[in-house]
Parts: sequence; structure tokens; C-alpha cells
Amino acid sequence: MGSQVHGTQEFNKAKRAEIKFSDAAMETVKTIISRYPQGKQKSALLPVLHVAQAEFGGWLSAEVMDYVAEVLNIKPIEVFEVASFYTMFNLKPVGKCTLEVCQTSSCWLNGAEDIVRYIEKKLNIKVGETTKDGMFTLKVAECLGSCGTAPMMQCGASFHENLTLEKVDALLEKYRSEGRLRSYTDLDYQNTL
Ligand code: FES
Repeated sequence: MGSQVHGTQEFNKAKRAEIKFSDAAMETVKTIISRYPQGKQKSALLPVLHVAQAEFGGWLSAEVMDYVAEVLNIKPIEVFEVASFYTMFNLKPVGKCTLEVCQTSSCWLNGAEDIVRYIEKKLNIKVGETTKDGMFTLKVAECLGSCGTAPMMQCGASFHENLTLEKVDALLEKYRSEGRLRSYTDLDYQNTL
């Protein structure tokens, strides 16, 4: 321990000392902060957390949240409060690809439950779990605003719509072959199947 950021996580001072944005990520963070008036850098918290999550393995450890607080010159608890509120932020390690299947009305009526069961069986995990190889985490989400193309799921910044079991097969294969972390800061929307 040794920080105001606790949650359910241990805080490790040695790990904290190693955490630092890459030059490219820091440039992005500075650009984000510059969009807000002087002294209002706290307003940049959400987009900066997305950068941090993409930069540090897809999740926000207590040490990463503490670092973000330092960068924004705010209290660690302010970072934790926001990070723990939004489901897009992971407070424990996840796979490289987090599959978020929408389970709200339109998607549910159009087979979201079958999609979830299919992925569970295919990857041998339940909702909320990560595959042993660290490749996939499966989640369910509330309406993601793509109701007209239900059923759908999100993985990082990409929306995958009008899903069928065949499309799910193709997506999992594609993600596995790419083998990289998919984040909300990805800009490869054209890869959407
Ligand atoms: S109900 Fe699934 S995107 Fe809206």
C-alpha cells in the first residue's frame, strides 16, 4: 500500500516507479490536455484514461491510476472514482481482445444470447472470464447504440454488426492471427467485419 488509490488492488511502489507514458503517448496526452482551459486538466481524465489503458496492457492498475493522477495533477481517488464507474475501463487484467456483446432489447431479440453462448463454448470461458492464452475476454454490455444492426458486439474501437455465428468465427480467427491488443483508441474502423 502507500497510496490513496486502493480499490481492490494492491499498490506496489516499485511497479509505480516503472510506469511512464511512451513519448508518443505523452504527446497524445499533452494534445488532449491542451483542449481544455488552463487549470481544468481534470476534464481530460476520460480520454487520458483511454490512452493509459491502451498503453499499459489493456487495464488500469492502481499504479497506472496513480500515475495518471500525477500527470493530470489531481488526486488518485478522483481517477479511481471515474475508472471504477465506467465499464469501458478494466480494473483487472483482461485478454488482448475484449469482446463486448450487447444484450439489450434489439440485440437480445435478434439472437445476442445465442452469440454469447456460442462464444462461451468456442472459447471455453464464461462471461467475465479470459481465455487461458490471454487472448480473449468475454463481456456483455448494455445498448451500444447500434440497435438497427443487431445483434452486435464491440471489440476495442470496432463495432461488429449484423452478427452471425459465421461472422463470429471469422472475427475470432482474425483477432487471433493479429494477436495484438485491441483498444478504444484504435483507429482501424475499416477492419470492421
Ligand atoms: S440494443 Fe444492442 S446496440 Fe442497442
